[in-house]
Amino acid sequence: MMRACSILVFLFSATIVSNVAADPVVLILKDYTNGTNYQINNVEEGGSLYVASNDAVASLNNIQLVTGGKPYLLSDLAAVQPDGIPQKITISGGLTITTTNTDSATNALTGYLYVTTAQQAQDPSFGVYVITGTHNIVLSGAQATTVILNTELVTPPDDVDRSEKTTYVSDLKMDIAKTVIFQWGIPGKQATNNQFFRNPFNYNNYDSNGNHLNTTQLFFDHVEPLQIGLDYWYISSSGSVSMTMKNTYVPNHNYTTTAVSTTGLVVSGTFLFNQHTVNFQQDPVNTQTFGSLISAYPSPRATVSFVFNGSDENSVQNYDIQNNATQLVKVVKFSAQTLTVSSSDVSAGTFYCQYFSNSNARNPMTTTVATSGATVPQGSTVTAGTGPTLAAGSTLTTAFPPGSTVSTVNAGTVTTVTAGSPTTSSATVATTTSVVRSPFSFFSFFVVLTLLIL
Ligand SMILES: *[C@@H]1O[C@H](CO)[C@@H](O)[C@H](O)[C@H]1NC(C)=O
Ligand SMILES: *[C@@H]1O[C@H](CO)[C@@H](O)[C@H](O)[C@H]1NC(C)=O
Ligand SMILES: *[C@@H]1O[C@H](CO)[C@@H](O)[C@H](O)[C@H]1NC(C)=O
Ligand SMILES: *[C@@H]1O[C@H](CO)[C@@H](O)[C@H](O)[C@H]1NC(C)=O
Ligand SMILES: *[C@@H]1O[C@H](CO)[C@@H](O)[C@H](O)[C@H]1NC(C)=O
Repeated sequence: MMRACSILVFLFSATIVSNVAADPVVLILKDYTNGTNYQINNVEEGGSLYVASNDAVASLNNIQLVTGGKPYLLSDLAAVQPDGIPQKITISGGLTITTTNTDSATNALTGYLYVTTAQQAQDPSFGVYVITGTHNIVLSGAQATTVILNTELVTPPDDVDRSEKTTYVSDLKMDIAKTVIFQWGIPGKQATNNQFFRNPFNYNNYDSNGNHLNTTQLFFDHVEPLQIGLDYWYISSSGSVSMTMKNTYVPNHNYTTTAVSTTGLVVSGTFLFNQHTVNFQQDPVNTQTFGSLISAYPSPRATVSFVFNGSDENSVQNYDIQNNATQLVKVVKFSAQTLTVSSSDVSAGTFYCQYFSNSNARNPMTTTVATSGATVPQGSTVTAGTGPTLAAGSTLTTAFPPGSTVSTVNAGTVTTVTAGSPTTSSATVATTTSVVRSPFSFFSFFVVLTLLIL
């Protein structure tokens, strides 16, 4: 009886602790100096800890982590398998960091630690890669979240505006009508409005009065190599997606696309930026549509310009500190020869620009008729997907009665099916929300109930 009681008490306290919803964190190694025993309080019990570092082994050997009453050497934890899968340890009883490195050795460190939440650590659809070399990465599952942790470039090129950490993503291949979305930050912190690349690429069409008509969804089976100069970022995907990720930098200040219908990226992740020009391959027969998805947070002195140049027409978007942009889509209907991205100051700040070029000979994969805020027509149902937290582009399972409003569902792929008609159309809503109580909280609730009954 005593034993049963203590097991229950243990379960109870373990659950209480894991319910303390800590955010996932990134801890920069150079912030921890010799002479201090750092107790890290904001990491969640049960979270997974990863190390992203290609710092000198001698320096890593002098850094010790303690969790679960066990010491770990950072040099052991920094090892990455050839497929990019890192070591991980589970946080238990807090985390302590100490170092015996000299201050100059500490200051030279470029690596960092990443700690997930407990829920992410237990989620089989949640993955983490550390990019140290060339890795062939295959993602699968109905709703996968994959965190990409970059390490410092070993042989940095001369370009003044290159990032210290860059992932070069090539050969992106995916199932048609499935979704891949790249987001900046780490999952769980900025859950919304942080998309910087998506395939399919969706955009709304409006009439001359600004009323929403419908949504065009473009699926690109050809994607340019994507140079992502960020320390870390993540992917939300559904279906099978494969790509090669390489810890390298390829100069692309004057880049020519490799297909008529294609999509690519220009990212400024580390502040310095010199002009980049994308030269579009021209379709000799058909007209093309061009467009962009831009988020821009320029530094105080910079105006950042995104210009599509055509033979008779230009499209200009300027952003600065007062006029920033978050996930703004722009579609230009004239034939553009180039996209030029430039900043009035080399200290440009942070921005993300996905561009596309689409030959109008190709039919858009799907043209949609419903979107967030639309009313579901009488006689139709909205079917959609599974929780707990739905990523943008995921599918919802709840069936809604006829006449209900799609805005009640603000995440996932909303599919409207008109009864008695063979036509199916869909709309991807680009926000993320939690719609189902997480099984974890439900479990704690259950344990509390059990204790109350006892
Ligand atoms: C680390 O700090 C301790 C205590 O302040 C000091 O005695 C020691 O010399 C320092 N070691 C290095 C490598 O700086
Ligand atoms: C969507 O709107 C565009 C622009 O008005 C129009 O040309 C197209 O026919 C519409 N598509 C559908 C399926 O309604
Ligand atoms: C950029 O590349 C295009 C196509 O290769 C070439 O025509 C153009 O001269 C180049 N521009 C610069 C500034 O190097
Ligand atoms: C592109 O458009 C901008 C803005 O209208 C214009 O200033 C610039 O001269 C154009 N460049 C070319 C090469 O046409
Ligand atoms: C974007 O601009 C708005 C309005 O000026 C400002 O409130 C907000 O803080 C800016 N966001 C960022 C990330 O700079």
